[in-house]
Formats: sequence, structure tokens, C-alpha cells
Amino acid sequence: ALQPNGCPVSARAAAFDPFGGSYQVDPAASLRWSRDEEPVFYSPEIGYWVVTRYEDVKAVFRDNILFSPSIALEKITPVSDEATATLAKYDYAMARTLVNEDEPAHMPRRRVLMDPFTPKELVHHEPMVRRLTREYVDRFVDTGRVDLVDEMLWEVPLTVALHFLGVPEEDMDTMREYSIAHTVNTWGRPAPEEQVAVAEAVGKFWQYAGQVLEKMRQDPSGHGWMPYGIRVQQEQPEVVTDSYLHSMMMAGIVAAHETTANASANAFRLLLENRSVWEELCADPGLISGAVEECLRHSGSVAAWRRLVTADTTIGGVDIPAGSKLLIATSSANRDDRHFEGADDFDIRRENASDHLTFGFGGHQCLGKNLARMEMQIFLEELTTRLPHLELVPDQEFTYLPNTSFRGPDHVWVHWDPAENPERRDP
Ligand code: HEM
Repeated sequence: ALQPNGCPVSARAAAFDPFGGSYQVDPAASLRWSRDEEPVFYSPEIGYWVVTRYEDVKAVFRDNILFSPSIALEKITPVSDEATATLAKYDYAMARTLVNEDEPAHMPRRRVLMDPFTPKELVHHEPMVRRLTREYVDRFVDTGRVDLVDEMLWEVPLTVALHFLGVPEEDMDTMREYSIAHTVNTWGRPAPEEQVAVAEAVGKFWQYAGQVLEKMRQDPSGHGWMPYGIRVQQEQPEVVTDSYLHSMMMAGIVAAHETTANASANAFRLLLENRSVWEELCADPGLISGAVEECLRHSGSVAAWRRLVTADTTIGGVDIPAGSKLLIATSSANRDDRHFEGADDFDIRRENASDHLTFGFGGHQCLGKNLARMEMQIFLEELTTRLPHLELVPDQEFTYLPNTSFRGPDHVWVHWDPAENPERRDP
């Protein structure tokens, strides 16, 4: 609808800024006006149509032909010529993998590559996740004060991802270092003078990933998604190509790492802010799996995802032309009262919590969702058992990296009295 002055963009749509202010603090709350009054609006600031109601977001996910995922990982900051030249020097050739790949290529690959994500396969990784979690908690359990993100929630999901992929132990430290640079390259807003340094690191990551892949090829019999992919390639080389495997290794780390680290940081913040719920989990670990799901709904780590409109269509009654870009606000959909009763309330017994769209929906829905859930479950089991008296350090300000899609606090400071640790009182 046109505004009284004839402008097609409403004042609130014009003011929408996903890189600042209220969207970073609480994306769902900052889009409440849209859910109520203008559920599909054009944002001149980013050049995207923003979709905010549950039914509309789900409908977009459901049709991945009309709404192509090809732009899902498009760089937010365009790369300088110099950075492009730097990447070329390393033969950087990152291809689309699963998440941003169109049909008909996507589904056959998804089908042949999904077995390692099934619950029966994930069971093999559980002891590794638990061991890593315990090791990290051992390091700080007697200190009395820690930033959970820096000391645990950032590194454990990265290391779990490397194990899941089947990266040999001796290569893990190098891969860890390079992958962090890659994240900045895709999602951050590096200043022009930083871009070349970032490109250097990404180029090195690409080459190193290639070397690790060659090493795995010598003996692809082991556990892990990459050795599995190598075995699939031997039978179906046209479905899983060399360049695909190479890209998959880098894309896999990125998909698995920050999403899970942020989701876990959001969960600890939310649970510790709702102290009585935290105490319920300490008393009854049977409640943890419901709590994980509700945390993913209420404060998920993917705030919005992207799709490209491939033919003229309508969404929520609004005409959208072919070629339009969509920002589908999963964080807003997850707090839509039309689907979730009292959607802003945090309720770990909510029956339809798992309807949330934090993992997407349909043909591209997150393959790693059960690995992520397992990690969050184990983090909560270990910390509610070993540090039930943990508290948020009061009056800390939570900060977030400005971006449209990935959301989690940079730091979550907690403190406790180590003399009160259950393992000291009751060894
Ligand atoms: C796809 C979120 C953890 C691997 C996706 C998508 C989202 C997402 C929103 C796109 C879905 C769509 O387009 O419908 C998350 C969140 C995570 C998480 C919030 C943690 C809480 C992981 C982990 C792994 C992983 C741990 C790997 C071990 C993938 C893969 C895809 C994907 C391979 C592409 C699937 C396809 O397009 O067929 N994820 N993810 N994710 N995720 Fe995750």
C-alpha cells in the first residue's frame, strides 16, 4: 500500500537497519511492528524484501525453486580487486555446497552425503563431545569466574566440527586458526586495508584444506563426513566431484562452528537470566532436551536467512517481482503469536517448540541439527551438574557482531564460589 505521501516504503520500513540498534539487541522484538502491521516490506537500506510472519517464512523455505537459496552466503561486504587477486594467487575456488546450491544438482548430493548425520551415526560422536566438554570445564571449574564463550563455547563446536569431518588430530590447530579468518571473510565487514590480510588467510585455509583432503584420500576408511564423501566419490564421481569435496571441507566447518557456538551462548544467557528455569534443569536433567529446543526457538543463532525470487509471485498478499532478494526473518517467525502461544514467553515445556525455523525448513533444512542439539544438551548436562551455582556476572553489557544473520553474544561472563562446587563438597 502506498503511504499518504505516495511513497511505497513506510517510515518504519525505511528505518529498518539490521546492522544496528534494536535488531542486534533483540531481532524478534525489533520486528514486532512488522509482524503486526506490515509483514512483508521492502528495506531500502539493504535492498531486500523482509518477511517476518511464521506462515510466510515457512512458505518461502518450502519452495526452493521459486525461492532459490543461491544468495544464502553472498558476501555482505563486496571484495576489493586487490583481495580478489590475493585469493586467485592461492587458486581459491570455493564452490557452492548444499546450502546455497540450486536443484537439480542439490538433492542428489544431499541424498548421498547425509548418512553421517543420521542419529545412528551421530551416536559414535557423543563420547568425543562429552570428553571435549569435560576437558574444557576442567580448566576453569576451580577459578570462580570465566567468559563461557572464550573458554568453551567458541572452541568446542569448532573442534567437534573438525572431528565430525574426520580431520586428523595433527592438523586441527592449523585448521582452527584458518577457519576463523574464513568466517570474517564471509560475514564480517573488514575495512579495505584488512581485506587483503583476510584474503591471505582464506587462501591459506583453502590450500591447507586441500592438503588435508589429499591425506585423507590415502586412507578413506575412517569415521567422518569427509572420508565418507571420498568413498561416495569413488562410486559416483559425477555427483561428488573433486572440487566439491574441497569446498565441502571448508563449508562444513563454517556451517557447524559459529551457528552452534552462538546458539549455546544464547542458551546460557537465556537460562541464567531465567534463574528458576536453570534451577529446574539442575534438579531434573530430563528437562534439558525441551530447554534446548525452546532456547533455539526463543533465541536462535540464525536470526534471518536469504532467498532469491526466481519468478513474479506474491508473499503474504504482497506482489514481489522476479529477481527480488528476500531476508526471511526466522527470529521473528519464531516469536509469531499466530503460531506460538505467548510467543515471547520462555517456556521449556512448550509442546510445539520444535516447530521453530532456526534450522530452516524443507529441502535444505540443516543437516547438522541433531549434532548441534547433542552439543547443546551435553554442555547443559555438564554445567548444570558441575556448576549448578553458576551466575551471570551482574550488569554486564552483551554485545553482538553487527550482521543480518548470525546472532550470539560476544561474551557471557559467569561467576561462582569454587568452594561450593559439588565435586569439592562431595568428591
Ligand atoms: C543448513 C542453521 C548447525 C550443517 C543450515 C541452514 C540453517 C542452519 C538456517 C539453512 C536451512 C535452509 O535453507 O532451509 C544451523 C544452526 C545450527 C547449525 C542454527 C546450530 C545451532 C550445523 C552443524 C552442521 C551443519 C553442527 C554440521 C555438522 C549444515 C549443512 C547445511 C545446513 C550441511 C546445508 C543443508 C542443505 O542445504 O541441504 N543450517 N545449523 N549445521 N547446515 Fe546447519
